Order: sequence, then C-alpha cells, then structure tokens
Amino acid sequence: MSQQLIAELTRSYWMEIETTMNYLSASTNLVGVQAEPIKQALAADVLEEIQHAQALARRIHILGGTVPGSMDFSAVQKSMQPNSEATDVVAVIKGVIDNEEAAIAQYKKTIKLCEDDPVTEDICVTLLADEEEHLRLFQGYLYEFENR
Ligand SMILES: [Fe+2]
Ligand SMILES: [Fe+2]
Repeated sequence: MSQQLIAELTRSYWMEIETTMNYLSASTNLVGVQAEPIKQALAADVLEEIQHAQALARRIHILGGTVPGSMDFSAVQKSMQPNSEATDVVAVIKGVIDNEEAAIAQYKKTIKLCEDDPVTEDICVTLLADEEEHLRLFQGYLYEFENR
C-alpha cells in the first residue's frame, strides 16, 4: 500500500515540477494589454506550485521513498506549451484549466489511497484545496474572455 502511495505522490511531484516550468514560461512569454493580470497570477502560482513539490518531496522521504532526480522526468503537459501567438491569453488560460483539473483528479485519487495514513491525506487535501482555488480563478478569467 505504501509503495502505491509513494508512486502516486511521486507522480504528483512531477506534475508540480512540470507545472512550475510551464507557469514560469507562460508568465514570461505572454504579451499585450490583456496579458498582465494573467502573467502576475501565473508568476505567483509558480511559487505555490514549487511549495507543493517541496511538501510532496518531504512526504515521499518520510514514507521511506526516494525523491527522484531529473533523469526520471517525462513531460506530459501538451496544452501548456508556448504558442506561436504570444498574445494568445485564452490558450494559456485553457492550458492552466486543463492542468489544474489534472492536479485535482490526481490528488483526489491519492486521497482515496490514504485510508490508514491521515498525515498524507491531510497534505493532499491541503494541496487539493489550493488547486481548486487556482482552477476557480482561471475559470473566472476564461468566463470574462468569452463574455466580452
Ligand atoms: Fe500544485
Ligand atoms: Fe495549481
């Protein structure tokens, strides 16, 4: 059970690392009059997502796992790749929504594995709440762009 839990926490760890990469790039690459609030929100999220990765790394270690190195990394976040159109704020917002939905699904799945591990459950619930906030914020941005 613990091995399966460590595997899921490691998966979440990589998701958080990839998220920081893509929010860092998107928070830098976007241009135009509509870009600034999105860039600022993403730049703030870079710090939150790296803290999520730190919390997961600590928990993997406490459970007896090994936090992997970069050679084990494989990227999956296709919808977060830079667009040739640097003003395409909506594409970034949709990419973030995909990404936050994936994180939410992953934490919910992991929480179900935590029956006799309330500490890991508590950590995952905290991170889940953060991702739900991120999702709601970007759903609001999308709503605004689609209803101008
Ligand atoms: Fe996160
Ligand atoms: Fe997030």
